[in-house]
Amino acid sequence: MTEKLEDIAQAMVAPGKGILAADESTATIKKRFDSIGAASTEDLRRDYREMLFRSTDAMKNYVSGVILYDETIRQKAKDGTTLVEIMKAAGAIPGIKVDTGAKPLAGPTSKIETVTEGLDGLRERLAEYYDLGARFAKWRAVITIADGLPSWGCIKANAHALARYAALCQEANIVPIVEPEVLMDGAHAGHDIDECYRVTEWTLRTVFRELYDARVSLEGMVLKPNMVIAGQKSAHQSSPEEVAEKTIRCLKSTVPSAVPGIAFLSGGQSDELATKHLSLMNAAGNLPWALTFSYGRALQAAALKAWGGKSENVAAGQRAFAHRARMNSLAALGKWDD
Ligand code: 13P
Repeated sequence: MTEKLEDIAQAMVAPGKGILAADESTATIKKRFDSIGAASTEDLRRDYREMLFRSTDAMKNYVSGVILYDETIRQKAKDGTTLVEIMKAAGAIPGIKVDTGAKPLAGPTSKIETVTEGLDGLRERLAEYYDLGARFAKWRAVITIADGLPSWGCIKANAHALARYAALCQEANIVPIVEPEVLMDGAHAGHDIDECYRVTEWTLRTVFRELYDARVSLEGMVLKPNMVIAGQKSAHQSSPEEVAEKTIRCLKSTVPSAVPGIAFLSGGQSDELATKHLSLMNAAGNLPWALTFSYGRALQAAALKAWGGKSENVAAGQRAFAHRARMNSLAALGKWDD
């Protein structure tokens, strides 16, 4: 019997649990491996992901699901077990990144703005991923703040693609993670928290209008947004309390309460700040949806460093991963304390 979309979506944002984003493309994981001086071979990428997914206690207690990349969903561990079976045995739901990347948006802003591609053939790919065990998917749209940008055309094109993706997912009995990311990097001087608020509000409003037009069931999706936060290079950084307060205000004014959960990306925040912001928001309480994490870097950076590409460091890597997973689980309950 097929599971109901609503039940899967609820399980993805179950209390005290969040999502591990381990869906780095081959190009992105190479950058991460470069940072620790490890060669990005297919076997080493497999070993790294196996290390994370075999952190059994952390996975069981704190991780509801894992977003995989195409290569990983097909990979087998050294002992022949598929990585999908390993994470399922630890109670985590397998998910899959299905977009094929953010490509330059044709037109005058093509040097800065992108539109995410991957709709062609998506129906057939989703059917295959379902057979490989995926019960949710991810599509990331990227919105850049720069002088006079984002353009309306960029927001509209990305929101439309997100909605078409989400509708195809639901048709395939796969829960869509809808991820419109307003980037926190970039060097634009006016990129303070209020500019991020303005652009995030505009983006989310547009996304939900497109989701409605595409007849996407809000009960059967999860939103993965950025937090409302100043650009990394802005001279005007905001306090964690202001980030939490403005993020909640922005989301309450744009995200219908029919959406079961919101799982944030970390977007380049430090590990601790990503945890602290999430905890402050949950501690504030009175939220219409579950608020949790779907972190990539903020869950993996410490583990990657402790592992360093060496098999003798697997236990140290797993300890580092388990620690961040536990801290973010506490934050998802509003109970993390520095
Ligand atoms: P970060 O948490 O590193 O931003 O990654 C999350 C993600 O999945 C981006 O698409």
